[in-house]
Order: sequence, then C-alpha cells, then structure tokens
Amino acid sequence: MTESKFQFNYEVYSDISELSEQDAWLLTEARTVTEQAYAPYSNFHVGAVAMLENGEVVAGTNQENASYPVGICAERVLLGTVATIHPNVPVKSIAISYSSDDVKSDHPISPCGMCRQALLEYETRTAKPIRLILSGQEGKVFIIETASFLLPFAFTKSELG
Ligand code: THU
Repeated sequence: MTESKFQFNYEVYSDISELSEQDAWLLTEARTVTEQAYAPYSNFHVGAVAMLENGEVVAGTNQENASYPVGICAERVLLGTVATIHPNVPVKSIAISYSSDDVKSDHPISPCGMCRQALLEYETRTAKPIRLILSGQEGKVFIIETASFLLPFAFTKSELG
C-alpha cells in the first residue's frame, strides 16, 4: 500500500485593492454583472466574466427556471457563450462573484460540482488552464491557477478512449 496526497496552492488576497489592475477590472465586471442574473427562486445572483486569450471579454449569469433543475449556473452560461461566439479561443481567466438579498456577499464563491466539470472540459478542449478569480461583492479574493485543481480524480475525455 502506498499513500498519495492531493494538494494545491492558491492565492488569498484580503480584498480587491491587492489585485493587479486587470484582475481587479475583471472582478469588478463580475460583481456588476450579477445584476443581470435571473434568480427569482434562490435570490442568489451569480456573475462570471471571462478574459479570453485574444483580449475579448464575455459575461454569463445564472438563469433560473420555475422547474428548478432547468436553471443554469453562471459559469456554464458563460462557457457556452464563449464557445459559441469565440470557438476554440482559450480562456485566460474567469472572475466569479455573487450578490444576494438573503446572505452576506463577503466571502469567495465556490463553483458547484457540475460547473467544475464544465470548466475542466473547456480546459481540456483548449489545452490551456483557466485561472479562477473568486470573490463576493467585498472581502477576500481567492486566485486559483487552474480550474482542474478544484476537481481531483476528474472524469475526462481520455477515459472514453
Ligand atoms: N450558482 C451559480 O450560478 N454558480 C455557482 O457557482 C453556484 C451556484 C447558482 C445556481 C442557482 O441559480 C443559484 O446560484 C443558487 O444555487
């Protein structure tokens, strides 16, 4: 028997003022675009904004539905839009934020499992890591070098032969 370990480093900033100008700009866009979310059922408004390798910027927000499972997270709305408008262009970074009438928005958001799988697919597809900039409307910011860190033991294309 051997024991293995999975661990990764990530950056923790106490707030947006510590970020580079470009990262701060992208996070501000993500914070602002939460206003476009359609979240009448959860009141949890999520915004995700991607900076592409070609300099284009694309945004996505969560879109809920009266039939709850039909709702889509901001990250997957974003990735579908990126892939449609700018096919095969790698995504450099995605800033993700949220706002809510019910809970304080002062700690970094954590993408759901389905979105982690979708982010990984996009990384695999373009063979490029996607940097994640995670925050709320205020407070700490986490920067994670690649979305794949969030999904160890992932099921990927290669399993399918
Ligand atoms: N949601 C996202 O859009 N992204 C996440 O990373 C977490 C959750 C959405 C789904 C649903 O519309 C609402 O937030 C509450 O779960």
